[in-house]
Amino acid sequence: MTLHPILTWPDARLGVISTPLETITDDVRVLAADMLETMYAAPGRGLSAPQIGQLLRMFVMDATWKDGTPSPTICINPEIISRSDDVSTGIEGCLSIPGVEAEVRRPASVRMVWTDLAGHVHEEDMTGFSARCAQHELDHLDGIMTLDRVDDDQRAALLARYEAR
Ligand code: NI
Repeated sequence: MTLHPILTWPDARLGVISTPLETITDDVRVLAADMLETMYAAPGRGLSAPQIGQLLRMFVMDATWKDGTPSPTICINPEIISRSDDVSTGIEGCLSIPGVEAEVRRPASVRMVWTDLAGHVHEEDMTGFSARCAQHELDHLDGIMTLDRVDDDQRAALLARYEAR
């Protein structure tokens, strides 16, 4: 397995809409394993393929490993099919904007469909941190960063912090 460098904002590749995967090849399996390894080493709880320069609709997440109970999940061609009306605001870091923690408002729960490495389709309700993490990673597949999810005042403050780091 290979650790990949993680692209940082404002790398143009982070603003691209990624392409769906047509087939799950050995290359995709290697990429998924590399992404998990890279995420754990970072250390982070989510990593999308475009963050390592692969413009494909795939991300990995593990919302619980930092609490001692790993739950690695590989999401291929994920889609959110419903969102709760209630929203929550939470702090989000991003491996591609190191040192910047944004306060992001999102639906508190979502229902997501995705394919795993074996080609099985999953459909699951997500709440709490998992819902936040999945939405954050799915945003990366559409070229959306936390900086795009905050108001102008917060964006300016976060950018000032990022540039001063
Ligand atoms: Ni991120």
